[in-house]
Amino acid sequence: MILDVEVERILPGGMGLAHADGKTVFVSLAAPGDRLRVRVEREQGNVLFASIEEIITPSPMRIEPPCPYFGRCGGCDFQQLTYEAQLVAKSEMIRDCLHRIARLDNLPDIVVTPSPDAWRYRMRAMWQIDQDARRIGYYERGSRRVCDVVDCAVLRPEMQARLEAVRATEWHEFPPDLKHLDVVAGEDGVSFAPAFANFDTRELSLSVRGETYRYNAAAFFQINPSLLGPMIDFALGDASGESAIDLYSGVGLFTLPLSRQFRRVIAVESNPIATRFARRNLREAGLETAQVIGANVADWISGVSVRDVDFVLLDPPRVGAESAVIKGILNLHPTQITYVSCDPATLARDLKKLFAGGYTMRSIRGFDLFPQTHHVETVVRLVL
Ligand SMILES: C[S@@+](CC[C@H](N)C(=O)[O-])C[C@H]1O[C@@H](n2cnc3c(N)ncnc32)[C@H](O)[C@@H]1O
Repeated sequence: MILDVEVERILPGGMGLAHADGKTVFVSLAAPGDRLRVRVEREQGNVLFASIEEIITPSPMRIEPPCPYFGRCGGCDFQQLTYEAQLVAKSEMIRDCLHRIARLDNLPDIVVTPSPDAWRYRMRAMWQIDQDARRIGYYERGSRRVCDVVDCAVLRPEMQARLEAVRATEWHEFPPDLKHLDVVAGEDGVSFAPAFANFDTRELSLSVRGETYRYNAAAFFQINPSLLGPMIDFALGDASGESAIDLYSGVGLFTLPLSRQFRRVIAVESNPIATRFARRNLREAGLETAQVIGANVADWISGVSVRDVDFVLLDPPRVGAESAVIKGILNLHPTQITYVSCDPATLARDLKKLFAGGYTMRSIRGFDLFPQTHHVETVVRLVL
């Protein structure tokens, strides 16, 4: 089915919203204000999912996507928007989730801090490998087919150079079962997991706000280094007191600065490689008072008997925090909570429970860690 529609705005998840024939239409790769001829790909209840057949009148926010893989590669879905429009769309996406899911009205303006680099910012990536088809890159949009990517415009130059080196490697040097590679850069090189041929899981380091973090590709590290300082500043602010807990702590991005503001800090993280780095990062910083616990957060928080916690920071993966984790945080009764989230929808779901537990929002800010995509990092500070 072909329809003519006008795109009203961008929804959480990155699709454009339009209406036609009494139905809601979700259009991929759209810009607000576009007049489009779209092809309906599938129908789900009252919602039609559509792709662009023809741009009848382009939105003033629309630009020519510079990447030759745009539309086919599943990596970037915002290249059709000016950078300014990307930031506005992300602010609206956060607001939409908080309003619709967390039932928050009278929200302040949600500032999304721009990335200093809108291109060539990415220092972490997962490269998909299809050895039968001899392709290396990212999954194509909506499929498990690998899009063969020669030059990825959002990779930092040192990552792009390593992508080229991987692509230049003879196929017989790839382990036969290798389907994807986790890759991360630091100030001193690029690390791969798993290691193969000349690509090792080397240890790297990066300095942020005077702290040195060591990590490798087998542990989580943030994608965009240029906004980490401002994000840490906002997440911690002037919080201080006796004790703080850092949940989903990785290699200690927030644990180190927290340990300078609080007398006692407990960090909880399930990846043993990350916890090893976190302990070492703390030790090398001379921050011996912090304790790093290797555990699933839900298990740990359900059994813990810590008292008088002043501050809890949580930075869960995209799925958000399990109900047991929110319940556990409410039982700890901290006076301040900072929630760092990479998905506004699960953030809003979890915030609703924290509001019901007596917390109110003190401040909120978005950080554009992921330019050219619909993804956005949100930091919310709550008080009891
Ligand atoms: C979004 S990352 C944040 C890491 C760290 N705060 C940072 O900014 O670098 C989420 C972290 O949670 C860890 N993780 C995921 N599920 C977990 C769970 N159920 N319990 C404990 N840690 C978990 C992951 O290994 C990852 O390090």
